[in-house]
Amino acid sequence: MRATAVAQPNIALIKYWGKRDVTRNLPAVGSLSITLADLFTSMQIDLDRTAACDELTVNGIADSDMLPRLSACLDRVIGTDRAHARIVSRCNFPVAAGLASSASAFAAATVAAAAAAGKQYDPDRLASLAGQASGSAARSLYGGFVELRNTDDDIAVSTVLPASDWPLVVVVAITESGPKAVGSTAAMEISRKTSPFYASWVAQQDADLTVARNALQQRDFDKLADIAEHNCLKMHSVMWASRPPLVYWNAATMRCMETVRELRRAGCGVFFTIDAGPQVKAVCLPEHAPRVKDALSATIGVQDVTTTGLGDGARLVAQE
Ligand code: PMV
Repeated sequence: MRATAVAQPNIALIKYWGKRDVTRNLPAVGSLSITLADLFTSMQIDLDRTAACDELTVNGIADSDMLPRLSACLDRVIGTDRAHARIVSRCNFPVAAGLASSASAFAAATVAAAAAAGKQYDPDRLASLAGQASGSAARSLYGGFVELRNTDDDIAVSTVLPASDWPLVVVVAITESGPKAVGSTAAMEISRKTSPFYASWVAQQDADLTVARNALQQRDFDKLADIAEHNCLKMHSVMWASRPPLVYWNAATMRCMETVRELRRAGCGVFFTIDAGPQVKAVCLPEHAPRVKDALSATIGVQDVTTTGLGDGARLVAQE
């Protein structure tokens, strides 16, 4: 049985950082994200009883680093008595560099694996399975503006506003294309155990989510900009104060933030957000996107700039 699914990465405006249950990969806080349109991962999963082991290629090259996490994801979705899988992944953007490649990869893998094995899961169960592979992957199952809520025992994910209701644009400034130094799972545990700011980060998250939700309902860009930048910088403050410190930025990251601040001072509808990597994502009103793109492209140290609108959730594209 073979199935292929496609998913896009998502960028959190109100971030997830820290786990309340490491074994089940349950987040300590809720989060709110936007799913992107033009960066994608496709996952083809071919279950073959004659295969001796799982195999993975990413853009045509064998990848043994990501394979154990994908095999574990397939075990959870299909069951450990499953056939081995030939997994063919294609991705049109740099992996493991703070561009949420794990979110799109595991969202696509979860959907493709369930279809290849003929399993029908209800949406919350599917979100839970994707979230166990990568916390942010659960959000890539949905399109537009997406909220991940903690329930008593698990997570629940839904679209809170479709992309067409507020078609914002994201300009991604790539400042470094290599993989990140510390993966997010290990880094979150370092923050939980050592950062003096971790407890207040967790305590304040619901209030930040409420402000962001209201900003979405009112389509209030400035309100969304203020809370998203605040939440991003608060997460990075938790990281910077961890021991060892978790500093994902480089000099160009800082310059991009300054470019965005200057644009905003000049009346441009734009704000920045940054994840566990050095790339800067500038979220803007569609009419200001060309100006944001030009300004970020001209910022010293920026290697590449990608512009994308908001897109759909993970979906099955082939099943045989
Ligand atoms: O899903 P993970 O384990 O890659 O963690 C994602 C963490 C951040 O990207 C920094 C924030 C977020 O909410 O996406």
